[in-house]
Amino acid sequence: MQTGSSHGEIDLNSVTFLSPVTEEIKLVEERMRSQADENHPDLRAALEHLLAAGGKRVRPTLSSLVGNMLGAPLEKLINLGAAVEMLHTATLVHDDLIDGSLLRRGTPTLNARWSPPATVLTGDFLFARAAKLAADTDYLPLMKLFSDTLAIIVNGELTQMFTSRGLINRDNYYKRIYAKTASLFEMTSRAAAMVSPVSDETIEAMRDFGYQIGMAFQIVDDILDFTGDQNTVGKPLGSDLLNGLVTLPAIYYAEANPADADVQSLPNGGWTNTENMNRLVTSIRNSDASKLAMREAEQHIERALAHLEDMPASAERDALENLAKYIVDRKI
Ligand code: IPE
Ligand code: IPE
Ligand code: MG
Ligand code: MG
Repeated sequence: MQTGSSHGEIDLNSVTFLSPVTEEIKLVEERMRSQADENHPDLRAALEHLLAAGGKRVRPTLSSLVGNMLGAPLEKLINLGAAVEMLHTATLVHDDLIDGSLLRRGTPTLNARWSPPATVLTGDFLFARAAKLAADTDYLPLMKLFSDTLAIIVNGELTQMFTSRGLINRDNYYKRIYAKTASLFEMTSRAAAMVSPVSDETIEAMRDFGYQIGMAFQIVDDILDFTGDQNTVGKPLGSDLLNGLVTLPAIYYAEANPADADVQSLPNGGWTNTENMNRLVTSIRNSDASKLAMREAEQHIERALAHLEDMPASAERDALENLAKYIVDRKI
């Protein structure tokens, strides 16, 4: 399912959560690819580049598993999965430009090759196509949810940019990771239940399932920034602190070491000092901060798994269990 880079050769087929919906994800990818037709050749090339780079496809996998478990129509799930993955891709295009990241999914980012204006416009195009795919579900509540979620993500990114840099604050951290990541997982799982013939109670259970695995997903992403292997992860690591992003491992470290001079420098713009931040990254790596952060991620997964107990026994339910567990076990 991935091509090219060493990152892409990681054996994603061994990831057991994929199995019951592998074929469906191919249909989702085809639907995404079809959005590139009849456009400017450069735009088509950019889209091809983005799609060829792959990605774990966790979000469409989530929608297909939830939807299939609950009896949603296939056509709606394909449009939903494509819409969600397209929206995710659009946010990454803009995020990498904002962060100045040159590598993603083991391949150069658009901003590594193109000018900022061309990158912004390609991101805009992807947002437009994501909205169209969401509309193709012919289900107005889903359109509204989609739009609300995008507003939450953008709001979160702006808050992160203007008010969170260097801030060591748990509440701020949880709000940030909800906005930038968990909100989309929450929406995906909830939407897949909404297009299924199920009760409001089940929709609510699946909404919270998405929320919980989404919170865990971003906590693990933040841990990987400290402990991950860059070649495996396929994107630049060790860079959150240098961008002023104080994530959960850094918060645990700061709580345990309030007198550390690098910690104290953070709220006053200390994160702009590369040498000090590299030293702080090393201190955090040598502490038990990541282990403590991982415990929190695992607690979210426990809460997610509890919801599955009430769902119909099926291959999809087992795969959702594996997906939830994979989120905290992943190295990529
Ligand atoms: C990366 O998401 C952005 C975050 C929310 C952490 P993924 O880790 O799902 O990225 P891909 O799609 O697999 O590349
Ligand atoms: C990106 O979060 C989340 C969105 C795209 C909204 P990160 O900045 O942590 O993602 P990575 O680490 O670059 O993938
Ligand atoms: Mg980033
Ligand atoms: Mg990150």
